[in-house]
Amino acid sequence: MKLFSRRAAIRLGLLGGAGGGSLAYGSLLERHHLVVEKTRCPLKKEHADLAELKIAMVADFHFDELQEGEFVSKCVEKINDQKPDLIVLCGDYVSHESKPVEALCEHLDKLNAPLGVFAVLGNHDYWAGADSVTKQLTRVGIQVLRNQAETLSYHRHPFQLAGLGSAWERKADFKAALPHSTVTSPPVILAVHEPDYFDRVCKNPRLILQLSGHTHGGQVCAPFYGAMILPSWGKNYISGLYRRHDSHIYVTRGVGTLFPHVRFCCPPEISLITLVAPN
Ligand SMILES: [Fe+2]
Repeated sequence: MKLFSRRAAIRLGLLGGAGGGSLAYGSLLERHHLVVEKTRCPLKKEHADLAELKIAMVADFHFDELQEGEFVSKCVEKINDQKPDLIVLCGDYVSHESKPVEALCEHLDKLNAPLGVFAVLGNHDYWAGADSVTKQLTRVGIQVLRNQAETLSYHRHPFQLAGLGSAWERKADFKAALPHSTVTSPPVILAVHEPDYFDRVCKNPRLILQLSGHTHGGQVCAPFYGAMILPSWGKNYISGLYRRHDSHIYVTRGVGTLFPHVRFCCPPEISLITLVAPN
């Protein structure tokens, strides 16, 4: 499955104005121009105890496509440099085959955060082999949440990190991840690869924040217009922080690319989200 058809890629190159020059810029320079996006996400009053919790997230490596170990190593270094409390990986480690996850995990093994490193799978991971991707991530100590939740504590204030399967693959089940939840249960941070799942859960009063990837921020964006092509389950929340019904979602642009391996007005991103007290 490709984000773009070859014909669309050619059209995008031409629309870039300088044609080949734009493609060269997007494939050689911007694709590796890694940006740390720092965002402050306001909490509801009842969850204010979690203020200053720092979450680093990254998604969409698509490592098997170009197998750029040096670039992944740079991503890992940048994440650790932020000294996050928690690291969440939001899926699509590979595009088509699961074997290269083994090499990717040699780099991800170096991720480090006091509350742990957690992962969810993306649609491409299911297509490549969900169980083998899970096995490789688990091997290096990354806990993969597939409709499961882990109760964590920040300065003795509990919260739950829930992770779902791919919504595109109809494997996402919020209720299965949090089976005994009541109104007095701890607040929830949710990781699910596809952002549009937020429409199903945003009314839940316990939900603080959903973390998602999948869109690549559009990967190729037109100035003053934005993302030109978006995938299924990635149409409503494209990039950055959104608020709906008192819950938030943050969508990362991710770090990898799908064919044609060009980024334009849409650099790769490490996301650092700090929860902050309400005004
Ligand atoms: Fe995806």
